[in-house]
Amino acid sequence: RIAYVNGRYLPHAKAAVHIEDRGYQFADGVYEVVPVHKGILVDEELHLDRLERSLRELRIAMPMGREALKLISREVMRRNHLNNGFLYMQMTRGVAPRDHKFPAAAKPAVVMTVRQMKPASKEKLEAGVPVITLPDIRWARRDIKSVSLLPNCLAKQQAHEAGAVEAWMVDGDGYVTEGTSTNAWIVTADNVLVTRSATHDILNGITRIALLDRVAAEGVTFEERPFTVEEALNAKEAFITSSTNYVMPVTEIDGRAIGNGHPGLLTMKLRDAYVAHIE
Ligand code: PDD
Repeated sequence: RIAYVNGRYLPHAKAAVHIEDRGYQFADGVYEVVPVHKGILVDEELHLDRLERSLRELRIAMPMGREALKLISREVMRRNHLNNGFLYMQMTRGVAPRDHKFPAAAKPAVVMTVRQMKPASKEKLEAGVPVITLPDIRWARRDIKSVSLLPNCLAKQQAHEAGAVEAWMVDGDGYVTEGTSTNAWIVTADNVLVTRSATHDILNGITRIALLDRVAAEGVTFEERPFTVEEALNAKEAFITSSTNYVMPVTEIDGRAIGNGHPGLLTMKLRDAYVAHIE
């Protein structure tokens, strides 16, 4: 495996950044996970838009232009013979002696890796996944795709230990924000698709954006608004979306079956629509 690190292509095992990189010391950086389907970077422009926005919000200079980033992405994919999986891009404020305030002259650091991954199997899709709910203990700018993911890691680990694959995090008012690495969706008893609106409270998933486009095209009734855990437990269907999961049915929340305990019809229809979009 080959990784890109600050201008060089290196064997994965030898690829390293400096110990005083601010990403390492302060989680002072941002990242993107871009799905690769049949050799194509899915919704690449939307991912680059979000990357630029994350950098801008943290006042980190874009280390290179879009075209350069695209060239490097393709080179990393080519060197790894990647057809299906994802591209990981990370940018930090760079290396500087440890000091909380921004360094005067640090150069943003860029890392890219790829990982082979097959889309979920038919069996996995038919089973759906269990999720649990946990308090959302993150900061107030979850719209920035920052590498500061400790609360997400703690919640995902707790989900794993509970036999679930994702944790839906719940804000102080009892409303679900999103999963630790996915967006959260439900379908109500009267067939209304609901997902939280893209404010500072959640990461505006690229899969979420792409799916909302399909939803509109398919004539599905939908509402962008917060929903409570109670509403989710009483939902007819539920699912999660992300670059690594596409659309994944949720069949259980906090140990309670959702709907008939099997993936919902609308959920599977939307998965098909998303897959058609990336094909
Ligand atoms: N996670 N919400 C959070 C908190 C996320 O970290 C992610 C993505 C999403 C879904 O966004 P998208 O559809 O753009 O992948 C929602 C990536 C996959 C990760 O951290 O691995």
